[in-house]
Amino acid sequence: MALSQAQWNRVGQYVRSYLQRTAQNYGHKNAEYRAVWRWMHTLNVLKNLDAILDGEKAGDDARDVCRVAALFHDVDHYTVDTQYHALRGAETATAFLKREGHPAQYVERVAEAIRGHHHDFSDDEPIDEQVARIAAGLSHEARMVMDAETLDKIGANNILQSVLTMSAVSHPQIFEVTRELTSGWPLERARTWAQTLVTTTGKIMGAQRLDFYERLLRQLAEEVVADDPFPQPSQLTQESLQVPE
Ligand SMILES: [Fe+2]
Ligand SMILES: [Fe+2]
Repeated sequence: MALSQAQWNRVGQYVRSYLQRTAQNYGHKNAEYRAVWRWMHTLNVLKNLDAILDGEKAGDDARDVCRVAALFHDVDHYTVDTQYHALRGAETATAFLKREGHPAQYVERVAEAIRGHHHDFSDDEPIDEQVARIAAGLSHEARMVMDAETLDKIGANNILQSVLTMSAVSHPQIFEVTRELTSGWPLERARTWAQTLVTTTGKIMGAQRLDFYERLLRQLAEEVVADDPFPQPSQLTQESLQVPE
């Protein structure tokens, strides 16, 4: 069943205001910023999902289930510990969609896709084996939503997020950001996320984003000096060289 434009708008407004309300009511720091961040992430996931749905040639029915699941997927990020947010979000979506009068079978498909979007990966087992096991237990709809979410952690958006995170922690110079991007955790994290993609289209999109990431890093290496070849001399050296202050 397809949602009308009015029903679709109600879902969006409900999730948006739920995030704002819960970020504040559950005492999170920078609640307003977090709620906007989460909502814009949700819209990115929806955008990724639309590309995946096209690539996977999804039918109208699956398209509708997945798009509603994408809007709801992180609705409960602020009400429970992260490990439970997918389960809780599925419950919130179920209650809302039933209130709106949607049929039980449709609501359950949306709920399954929400539950299936988040997984805690262990360091004790190869990531490929964990991903294969998870994917085998999910519907195609849930796998498409899962990939739409993962893709928001890879590529241009991830690079900007990494720079923002570094800036929030310290006050880095461009050469320090470049050094961190080229040799540090942001690229490694993106590569690991790319390994968790489970649909054909998601994998293609992930590879394109990683390729862009690596091209940007090569360009940065060409343009930006990451190490100063003239280190600041120590006080003692300054004195012995009679370097003026
Ligand atoms: Fe998410
Ligand atoms: Fe999530």
